[in-house]
Amino acid sequence: MAHAAKRIGILTSGGDCPGLNAVIRGAVKTAERHGYEIVGFIKGYEGLVDPVTYIPLNGKNTAGILTQGGTILGSTNKGRFAATVGVQDRLELDPVLMAGVQATYEQLGLHGLICVGGDGSLAVAQQFHEYGLPVVGVPKTIDNDLSATAFTFGFDSAVACATDALDRLHTTAASHERVLVLEVMGRHAGWIGLYAGIAGGGDVILIPEIPWTFENVCSKILERDQQGKKFTLVVVAEGAELPDGELVTAERRQDCRQTRLGGIGNVVAYEIEKRIGRDTRVCVLGHLQRGGGPTTFDRVLATQFGSHAVRLIIEGKFGEMVCYQPPSILSVPILTAVNKLSQVDANSSAVQAARALGISFGDTANVAGPFGRKEVTEIEELSSDIPDLLETPVVETPSEEVTTSDEPLPAEWEAAAAYADAAMW
Ligand code: F6P
Repeated sequence: MAHAAKRIGILTSGGDCPGLNAVIRGAVKTAERHGYEIVGFIKGYEGLVDPVTYIPLNGKNTAGILTQGGTILGSTNKGRFAATVGVQDRLELDPVLMAGVQATYEQLGLHGLICVGGDGSLAVAQQFHEYGLPVVGVPKTIDNDLSATAFTFGFDSAVACATDALDRLHTTAASHERVLVLEVMGRHAGWIGLYAGIAGGGDVILIPEIPWTFENVCSKILERDQQGKKFTLVVVAEGAELPDGELVTAERRQDCRQTRLGGIGNVVAYEIEKRIGRDTRVCVLGHLQRGGGPTTFDRVLATQFGSHAVRLIIEGKFGEMVCYQPPSILSVPILTAVNKLSQVDANSSAVQAARALGISFGDTANVAGPFGRKEVTEIEELSSDIPDLLETPVVETPSEEVTTSDEPLPAEWEAAAAYADAAMW
């Protein structure tokens, strides 16, 4: 079938995240200005075949979507197009399905297809590429776990949400002298936990990349007690393995889909209460991290990604994924991005800065000194230390300028002073 107009397709696949609409808008505006029509497939790869479902996109029906969360095209997680099982194991796509997709390309006269997705969705795009279909990828995920790009859009928005949650938990934790555990998403990468933990003033950050123990977590809480800080904020990433190596899962799946993570926050809170008897509460942030509009950073990144994806198609650079390698937007083969999970480097500057501030990662690296990763012996018998730690009085040395009096403070002043001390970060 002959087509007068040059046509590009776009779809959003996998779990949604803030910034998807900004990519769509960026692609549409760029395509239109370069004389291309653009169509959006509905519900991710599902819209490509049996039945083929799409809408023509233009400046009019994408106006105002820059700031909107979710995706106007809808999305499907896995569905009939699942090219991975578990973290990275490849699943071959059904050849009948592939033939159907090829027929859609031909019928619509697609010059290229922009696939916006995370590692699973980009693995599908890679198989399209190997099949000979012109495709480019755009990395999307709040987890920030794709290699070859410094950041995926959606991550900054998720971190902003988790940081806001910590700000709120901070005041209630201080008021009640409680331990508050915040469970965040991120699958097998600790990026959200690390960044939100730093930005939100977390005291303990537990992430998949740094092995930790309950003893060290409790030790940090007691250390803060000793300093007069009677509350503690613990940030735990859903994919942080328990000290025995077990992952806490919300459900075990029998089908080919990835196991859903979740529940570690409750385990951590339970253990803290059991071991040191501290009043502890849990907040599981869940899908709030995926909802809402994108931050300014994500709007800028997503807009550039959408625009650059169209450029790749116009230049015929298929099988490539756009990426952010500061300060530039570039592209790499999709395969490079999906082959390896991007995880937090336990020696990165962010981790080192956090340690220098006294943030605990539940390991023992910070005990000997604030910088670097000096290994010291783990505190093994914490329970025998607890009475001592709790009974040690806090001795305050008044500065020379302050005149002291033997008169007892009025009761309401004492309470206010205690609150002010406890509320310090
Ligand atoms: O990959 C994004 C993500 O939000 C993960 O952080 C989380 O584990 C997972 O998706 C949740 O998936 P679902 O929306 O299918 O429950």
